Amino acid sequence: MCETNTTKPDFKVATGDRAILPEGAKTIPIYVMGKKYEVPETLTIMKAMEYAGFQFLRGAGCRGGICGACPTVYRMAGDYKLHFGLACQTVVEPEMYLAQIPFFPANRASYDIKDMSAAADAIHALYPEVFRCVACNLCTKACPMDVKVMDYIAAIKQGQIEKAARISFDCIQCGLCSSRCMGEIPQYHIAQLARRVFARYIQPQAEHLRKRAEDIEAGKYDQMLDDLSSMDKDALEKCYVEGREREPDMAEPGSWQPQETKYL
Ligand code: SF4
Ligand code: SF4
Ligand code: FES
Repeated sequence: MCETNTTKPDFKVATGDRAILPEGAKTIPIYVMGKKYEVPETLTIMKAMEYAGFQFLRGAGCRGGICGACPTVYRMAGDYKLHFGLACQTVVEPEMYLAQIPFFPANRASYDIKDMSAAADAIHALYPEVFRCVACNLCTKACPMDVKVMDYIAAIKQGQIEKAARISFDCIQCGLCSSRCMGEIPQYHIAQLARRVFARYIQPQAEHLRKRAEDIEAGKYDQMLDDLSSMDKDALEKCYVEGREREPDMAEPGSWQPQETKYL
């Protein structure tokens, strides 16, 4: 959730990740929780709200469309349709009526992935509500990532875990699908479980990844990490710029190996 900053500065230009008003930028009216603000038309919803004096204490994370912390619901003046987006990605438009939904409560089952199997029965037992889906497709329409939510729910109902995992791959757990579901299904938690089951029990193991995990557990990189941790900024920078072999730009995949192979 966000709150209005009571000590709003009296200047309009901010720096860093905040709004920088381009010269001659046109401002447009938007409505945040019912109140009108004039904001530059070039900004995302998140930056426009900060420009208007809001401070995000919750409901913001990566600012890059990845973490799912900033789901936003809005209507346009004169349009009956409900629209959905991520505040950090969606650019403001005139006469937007906005509300932030930084968290939508949804049931999450408790399980140990080690007790699951490649069969879908356990997913069905943990989330029997999946069978309440009435195929209304509101979840898909609400998804800011264009994930075909109804389709992955259908796949899970049919026991097709791999299909569900692949369809839901771009889910960022924002919860907007769940907010629209008349079957009260926590779609994104179920899809996350499907992806976990797929990764652990169905997808072939990546041999190099298994070996690397074993190396880490055996302490192969401990000394190197200790050395890096003890360096100051200048030494680290030097090490990064001069002390490492760099893969040539545009190298053919698989065509390059570093001379130093002790950490491979
Ligand atoms: S599937 Fe649901 S939780 Fe995942 S990104 Fe889409 S709306 Fe958000
Ligand atoms: S919103 Fe709920 S009931 Fe409608 S299609 Fe999606 S999962 Fe099914
Ligand atoms: S802040 Fe992470 S998706 Fe918007």
